[in-house]
Amino acid sequence: MPVVALIGAQWGDEGKGHLVDLLASKARLVVRYGGGNNAGHTVVNPLGTFKLHLVPSGIFDPSTVNVIGPGVVIDPEVLLGEIKDLEARGVTTAKLFISERAHVIMPYHIMLDQLQESSRGAGKIGTTGRGIGPAYADKMSRVGIRVADLLHEETLLNRLRGVLEEKNRLLTRIYNAKPLSLHDIYLRYLDFGHQLSDHIANVHPIIHRAVEKDFPVLLEGAQGALLDVDHGTYPYVTSSPPGSAGACQGAGIGPTQINSVLGVLKAYTTRVGEGPFPTEIEGDEATVLRQIGTPWAEVGTTTGRLRRVGWFDAVMSRYAVQVNGIDTLAITKLDVLDTLPTIKVCTGYRLHETQPEYPPATVAVLSQVEPIYEELPGWQTPTTEARRFQDLPDAAQAYAARLCQLVGARLGIISVGPGRDQTIVVNEVF
Ligand code: IMP
Repeated sequence: MPVVALIGAQWGDEGKGHLVDLLASKARLVVRYGGGNNAGHTVVNPLGTFKLHLVPSGIFDPSTVNVIGPGVVIDPEVLLGEIKDLEARGVTTAKLFISERAHVIMPYHIMLDQLQESSRGAGKIGTTGRGIGPAYADKMSRVGIRVADLLHEETLLNRLRGVLEEKNRLLTRIYNAKPLSLHDIYLRYLDFGHQLSDHIANVHPIIHRAVEKDFPVLLEGAQGALLDVDHGTYPYVTSSPPGSAGACQGAGIGPTQINSVLGVLKAYTTRVGEGPFPTEIEGDEATVLRQIGTPWAEVGTTTGRLRRVGWFDAVMSRYAVQVNGIDTLAITKLDVLDTLPTIKVCTGYRLHETQPEYPPATVAVLSQVEPIYEELPGWQTPTTEARRFQDLPDAAQAYAARLCQLVGARLGIISVGPGRDQTIVVNEVF
């Protein structure tokens, strides 16, 4: 399986970084293909605990080539900070390449993201406030600044001059904010380009050659299928396509070149930010799932926000499997359920007199569905030491098997703790 797309099959935060870290040792190339520093991947390995936002999680293996692909939006200040931190902690970034086609998150994107959010009031989306939406909007409106522009003084100045005038009108007249200085931004971003120049490249030949030579390639997703701008719970979504189609577009490879789509699912469900969440729970049950105070704590890596938690939702995840052609599943955080006497799984929705098979498109309707639960026996035994499927208690095996049956994909990996070795490989991915 030379080219594998690893994508989130829920609302993000499924533990993708943990799995990429595991799989990167087998991959020759890891490509981050979309999103920006709205993502946060926590990786725990023998080198320590790392929180990555932009650098692909394959960076810890010195022999792996890591690419930030054309589909990513990059805040250069954040990326430089991440590179410096990794280097300071002994992790080499010599094989990190940044696509010259990737778009740059500019200061006005961050300001507008935050100003637009506060002006939405009760209708806020709960964005990460990192400028992601406005940066993707500018890309589509063809007024974005790309990484390549940071290396070309005249282009950068001309493009910035063209766009900043309009942004300043928006900032001052609509939002009563201070205007931004063309001169300051120009010099600052030119300097960022200079600092990143050793990493900036035409990444197409790197990716194309690896695919042509059948090298194991991992396409590293960020966010999750239910945050997809087309297929997610719109408008409570991110502004990019985080799924397998986005992997093709954002990395620059064709769909026929992807051999397997690995969908990452938590053994339950979480969501950060606003938006419908049919299986959400509160109270004591929620406390167990939140794992506060442990390395698995349900706190956003990027924003530090407490994640909303709930039972596994097979309707949503089955839909994610179908939309993305997921053939293999990685079920993460199974150990979080270790203490529960019984575990609920949502197998269907009830909507008035009907039972919709797929998630309704409109938030107003989706918010009205009532989950139909199946209650499965818990195992009340620690699973954190299990390393083979047969080491798991029978009820845990049955739980994992039931999730796969409900969503319609085979089981690949189970994770039972944040450590690199706390994984059970049922079917090899590469
Ligand atoms: P944005 O991507 O910052 O515009 O945020 C839009 C929505 O996507 C918000 O609900 C965020 O909380 C959510 N979101 C964005 N990135 C992630 C992620 O990496 N994990 C989980 N949720 C995310």
